[in-house]
Amino acid sequence: MEKQQGKKVSFLYLNEKDMIEAGVLDMPECVEVTEEVFRLLGSGDYLMGGPLCNEHGQMLWFPKESPFANMPVAGPDRRFMAMIAYLGGRFNVCGEKWYGSNIENPLKRGLPRSILMVMLNNAVTAEPLALMSGNLISAMRTGAVPGVAAKYLARKGADTAAIIGTGVISRACLLAICAGVPGIRTVKLYDIREEQMERFEKDMAEKLSVTFRRCSSLEEAVRGADVISVATSGAKAAEIREEWLREEALVELTGIADITPELYMKSTIVADNWKMHRSWMTEGDEHPDGIESILSWAPSAPVIRLVLGGRVRHEDIQSLGDIVGGTPFVRKPGAPVMFITGGMPVEDVAWGYTVYQNARKRGIGQELLLWDSPHWF
Ligand SMILES: NC(=O)c1ccc[n+]([C@@H]2O[C@H](COP(=O)([O-])OP(=O)(O)OC[C@H]3O[C@@H](n4cnc5c(N)ncnc54)[C@H](O)[C@@H]3O)[C@@H](O)[C@H]2O)c1
Repeated sequence: MEKQQGKKVSFLYLNEKDMIEAGVLDMPECVEVTEEVFRLLGSGDYLMGGPLCNEHGQMLWFPKESPFANMPVAGPDRRFMAMIAYLGGRFNVCGEKWYGSNIENPLKRGLPRSILMVMLNNAVTAEPLALMSGNLISAMRTGAVPGVAAKYLARKGADTAAIIGTGVISRACLLAICAGVPGIRTVKLYDIREEQMERFEKDMAEKLSVTFRRCSSLEEAVRGADVISVATSGAKAAEIREEWLREEALVELTGIADITPELYMKSTIVADNWKMHRSWMTEGDEHPDGIESILSWAPSAPVIRLVLGGRVRHEDIQSLGDIVGGTPFVRKPGAPVMFITGGMPVEDVAWGYTVYQNARKRGIGQELLLWDSPHWF
């Protein structure tokens, strides 16, 4: 019997150089696309993993110790994660970001802390569209979120930003904050490693016309700043004190900071998508170690503790998607705003898809064959 001929399928492979050529580093566009993502979130036109469609991702939980020589064990910022999403609107595409993270990579191996790949698929047929280097997608979309948040949540007339932790993610955060709040003129930097601040300033000075000030203490960086962006990694989080914060300061927590429960309770709390943080609470409940299993790393852990303790209600926490979608932002008069972002696969899919479309238009990347005709179908 003659074998039935099926459909040829190929997809675009984009390495990091291709991604750059196709515009992955265009922050103003990334902020615009991310704002569109939040609008879609507000309208509900998206799906993420899990039965409630709001999970951040599926994590490989490394054990604290293992009898197997090669099995990875738990450590700060050590994980593998698969993050899946469907995004509607003009995107109408499914995708996944798959990554691993090891904090020793930059110092010991000449590798970034995390290594990421993004896959995009046709939402109807499941055909692969693209497999792409995800590091810059992820860094850019992560930075774009505080950019969008600053546009909606920073006090009017904001002109000073503080960048706490001058690593990879903070580069993108600063570019986005300056795109979201064009009035930023002064940028104060603080990192526990002086050489990181120097590299950061050198890199960013080429891209932004603002005045940089390297600070010798966290307090110096935070005092007087309108927008404070925190993205540190490692064992010791930055301790941000209430008395350092100016009226209506916006604190953007892309990574974890050490902030007292009292300060959180006085502040206006906004999350990227609180439903996703609630999913983390459910995951914590199901873990053999209980809720403590997520509280050591989830960026929203301090707020989750307050919710569990009955000191903050779910309804007290606003979500950026709702605000971008038109629900009025309610600010406690004079109080700081704490913005918590955990990162969502819808953001990776949106920015990955945009870069993929650019690459297709400009003939960038390498076409890879999946099959000429499927062997079994
Ligand atoms: N929310 C999200 O969507 C999202 C996405 C990606 C990464 N992240 C988080 O962002 C954080 C930063 O990631 P990265 O890739 O830029 O890391 P990185 O290691 O490149 O940079 C972190 C910097 O923080 C500095 N640092 C560490 N502790 C500090 C402290 N107490 N005070 C000041 N500086 C300190 C380090 O010296 C380093 O320069 C991580 O915690 C990561 O988990 C969040």
